[in-house]
Amino acid sequence: MAFLEEIERRRTFGIISHPDAGKTTLTEKLLLFGGAIQEAGAVKSNKVKKGATSDFMEIERQRGISVATSVLAFIYKDKKINILDTPGHKDFAEDTFRTLTAVDSVIVVIDVAKGVEEQTEKLVEVCRMRNTPMIVFINKLDREGKDAFDLLDEVEQKLGLKVTPLSFPIGMGYDFKGIYNIYDKKLNIFSGENKQTVSEGVEFTDISTPELDQIIGEDAAANLREEMELVDEVYPKFNQKEYLEGNLQPVFFGSALNNFGVKELLDCFIEIAPPPQPKMADTRLVDAKEDKLTGFVFKIHANMDPNHRNRLAFVKIVSGTFKRNIPYLHVRLNKKLKFSSPNAFFAEKKEIIEESFPGDIVGLPDTGNFKIGDTLTEGEVLQFKGVPSFSPEHFRYVNNADPLKAKQLYKGLDQLMDEGVAQLFTLDMNGRKVIGTVGALQYEVIQYRLEHEYGAKCTYENLNVHKACWVDPEDERSEEFKEFKRVKQRYLAKDKQGKLVFLADSAFSIQMTQDKYPTVKLHFTSEF
Ligand code: G4P
Repeated sequence: MAFLEEIERRRTFGIISHPDAGKTTLTEKLLLFGGAIQEAGAVKSNKVKKGATSDFMEIERQRGISVATSVLAFIYKDKKINILDTPGHKDFAEDTFRTLTAVDSVIVVIDVAKGVEEQTEKLVEVCRMRNTPMIVFINKLDREGKDAFDLLDEVEQKLGLKVTPLSFPIGMGYDFKGIYNIYDKKLNIFSGENKQTVSEGVEFTDISTPELDQIIGEDAAANLREEMELVDEVYPKFNQKEYLEGNLQPVFFGSALNNFGVKELLDCFIEIAPPPQPKMADTRLVDAKEDKLTGFVFKIHANMDPNHRNRLAFVKIVSGTFKRNIPYLHVRLNKKLKFSSPNAFFAEKKEIIEESFPGDIVGLPDTGNFKIGDTLTEGEVLQFKGVPSFSPEHFRYVNNADPLKAKQLYKGLDQLMDEGVAQLFTLDMNGRKVIGTVGALQYEVIQYRLEHEYGAKCTYENLNVHKACWVDPEDERSEEFKEFKRVKQRYLAKDKQGKLVFLADSAFSIQMTQDKYPTVKLHFTSEF
């Protein structure tokens, strides 16, 4: 297949939701349609009992939550679908944010009864800022939930989106009769007794015909006609360009568990969702269709096999063709590297591939060369943007609890930080190490992994820090900056890249500092 066709057929996306809205279930149903798994329940039961299909690490199995993201790929109607799984747990939000830098679009899953929840709001905000095309899937229609119009309102208001329903539920919960697919003009009837079958939609271009009354009953038919009129009046017509620009979000209704409305979602998705998109680098915009390879690391997964100290760097191919055993430039290290066993991901397994195309994710076995955000090219010096570190929310000193294992501790910490599990700061004043995380759970993860993977032990000590601010002086030699450094000495640290960070103990202190030293800018992310 020609290079351009390969690009055109790829759809790389993420599914985001608040935990329990049905992301895992929806993912599994999509895999079923792609023939990638045979049995319903495979992903789900694995998730709780043996670790999800998409999870590798033991700790994930232990906790039963998806600690890290991974890639599930399958072919559907000749489209190559890459789903980048994102952890829903808020303590792993940063992992999810980074994964969202590697997707070309997202599907947002919302629970019909719970509506828009906190985690959905945060993740959608990140996508909105980047104008990522989004499709909303309202799930669990087999249960009693909120009125469809109220939900659409809620999505618009809480998520700041402009929506247009492309399907509409007929009844809900006990009375759930099915879905009218506005996009395809098809009627899908829900058959409660035969829950796992895929219902093929019946062509139904004109809902004013009496046939509708016979199928769903007079009341439901009258209701649907009224609702469709309202939809017509209130919501803009679907427009693919606006969707692709991130200005309009189509909404689907269904029940992932019952396999209802999922095929409609997928069929529409492959038609409207974008193929691999151009990506901004520090020097220029890189287009997927360029023939030279570029890509960036958005995730590092360590020690998937505890017997081997191996890591896998997940690289999103932005342009060109990635080939096995060809030397590529690791821009940060200014070093050529070639990879003899790059992995491609399929539903439940990974295998070595010869080549990969834009939109694909390759897993590169790594012995410590990669950090999150690293760029690979065929020689051009450029660095992809948009994989920043965010200011952590929690801060603790880390102490070595086993003096004989200091080396192991620092190696472990170093590698865990490269993976992006947390951020390490070194205080200027006394060289003490501080770990900053998005959620408290990460401290347990770090402790557990240090012990099990590196044989090192650590303890923590609380530290009163409100936020880490990356320091950006207008003039490094100015008296103002010198004074800032002198006065704030106790609160200054370096991040892993050696960038200067101000560990502020309160919002008030940040404000005061900004007022007093206006030429010393403070940023809440490492990329500014
Ligand atoms: P998550 O990945 O977003 O966290 O959600 P997940 O798919 O694990 O789904 C959370 C719960 O919601 C699961 O129930 C799942 O079965 C249920 N669920 C998902 N889709 C639907 C749906 O369309 N209708 C209904 N009624 N339930 C749905 P659980 O009790 O936590 O797990 P399980 O015991 O059912 O496996």
